[in-house]
Amino acid sequence: MNRRPCVCYNLHMHVLGIESSCDETAAAIVEDGVKILSSKVASQVDIHARYGGVVPEVASRQHLLSAVPVLNQCLEAATLKLKNIDAVAVTCGPGLAGSLLVGVNFAKSLALALDKPLIGVNHLEGHIYANWLIGHTPVFPALAIIVSGGHTDLVLMKDHGNYVLIGRTRDDAAGEAFDKAARLLNLGYPGGPAVEKAARSGSPTLRLPKGIIPNSFDFSFSGIKTALYRLVETGQVASVNDAAASFQDAVVKILVKRTLAAAEEFGVNQILLAGGVAANTRLREKMVKDSPIPVSIPPLSLCTDNAAIIASCGYFHLIRGERSGLDLDVYPSLPFASMPNPD
Ligand code: KG4
Ligand code: ZN
Repeated sequence: MNRRPCVCYNLHMHVLGIESSCDETAAAIVEDGVKILSSKVASQVDIHARYGGVVPEVASRQHLLSAVPVLNQCLEAATLKLKNIDAVAVTCGPGLAGSLLVGVNFAKSLALALDKPLIGVNHLEGHIYANWLIGHTPVFPALAIIVSGGHTDLVLMKDHGNYVLIGRTRDDAAGEAFDKAARLLNLGYPGGPAVEKAARSGSPTLRLPKGIIPNSFDFSFSGIKTALYRLVETGQVASVNDAAASFQDAVVKILVKRTLAAAEEFGVNQILLAGGVAANTRLREKMVKDSPIPVSIPPLSLCTDNAAIIASCGYFHLIRGERSGLDLDVYPSLPFASMPNPD
């Protein structure tokens, strides 16, 4: 990431966000990092559903088809023209390499043609910024719990750009565990919403492991998944809805327990929910009910992948004078704390 000490901005700064890390092609325009002027998502979920998961080659081809139409819808909804865009922020990792490449090259060409700053954004950091798009400003230090399809990270956020990773999953990510449980119970794809729907008609009657790792803020979900697998294989699951409710309950309990223990240990002012699994109603309700400190909960559309979070995150980098070069690459395995293109 290059730093430019003098960056001049208009009165209001309009950042165009581009997101294509997995199976959603998204564009959004965000004003001053906090106000969504428009946000459009072209989901590929129906295309991948028949394969039971995302097919990377299909995803990148679909991003190619959707990128320009989604951008046009986004500009139209915001009643803005490309010339009104002040900067372009794009997810450059982590994610599927082919999918990331489409978004990053699209963003680079826009930045070059418009002669505007380009900023590469870490998708996981982007998820946290859903909490800046809901009409209030989070109070630092805050604790972010990022629960997505590929990651489960507990991050102490002392300020913008000042993060300490204090816990992560040692095996499956929470979203991945939901997706695998859904497959096991034949609930379809995408797994998280399918498990949640089935759980609404069930009771958490099955005994599943607690998945607690002593003396650590790390998570582990594979034991719960394996225990569910054994119960299914040995015919001990009489009701799929009860199994879904039991699984959801076990995962949510670990997430809430670990998060609240870390919040107390680090004396934070606020908990910030982020990532696709944060769309889970049971998780949202239990976190709020059990937490002694305020919990910021973005709406469902800002928890799952979208480009408004990328534009917001990009804005906060830009106002610190950070930007990427046109040599910005894609980083499929970019870890949380690492930002793209370090000096
Ligand atoms: O953040 P996200 O949209 O994409 C990634 O960056 O990975 O997260 C996707 C994950 C999937 O594993 C999906 O099953 C899960 O979020 N998810 C849910 C719910 N909605 C999406 N998990 C549990 N309950 C939900 N309601
Ligand atoms: Zn995501």
